[in-house]
Amino acid sequence: MRNLLAGLAVALSAACSGGAFAADEASQEAFNNNCRTCHSWKKGDNRLGPSLHGVVGRKAGSAEGFAFSETLKKSSVTWDEGSLDKFIANPDGFIPSNNMKPFTGIADAGTRKQIIDFLKSNPE
Ligand code: HEC
Repeated sequence: MRNLLAGLAVALSAACSGGAFAADEASQEAFNNNCRTCHSWKKGDNRLGPSLHGVVGRKAGSAEGFAFSETLKKSSVTWDEGSLDKFIANPDGFIPSNNMKPFTGIADAGTRKQIIDFLKSNPE
């Protein structure tokens, strides 16, 4: 019983602090949780994945100084809300044999929207 109560208290406080987040903090959190292992949003800061600074409106595979897969370079995709949403939902389904591995996609549409909102805000 004590464990159950403790669990409930944790769940409640998590729910409350989640609700207190400003919209952009929640978006940043979604990015941090899902993408930051491999991507920075800082300009020119390429890691395991390319910098995502200014990615909205950019042609796929064109970030300077990053060794993209041929598939991504040759794709005719320009990143906008629609293409980003499809790519993040299912990278291999949208651009087969790309090199964004082992990331397998985010099923939750709300989380994808938060991440795209964050990328659109073009954080420095
Ligand atoms: C396991 C590491 C990893 C994770 C996690 C990851 N990515 Fe990537 N991402 C990559 C790599 C590597 C590439 C380059 C792929 C290629 O060259 O085919 C890439 C490419 C991209 C591109 C294309 C960029 C361009 O300039 O064309 C976008 C957009 C992108 N990732 C968004 C995301 C988002 C948003 C997330 C989180 C939801 C995410 N990625 C999670 C490694 C990752």
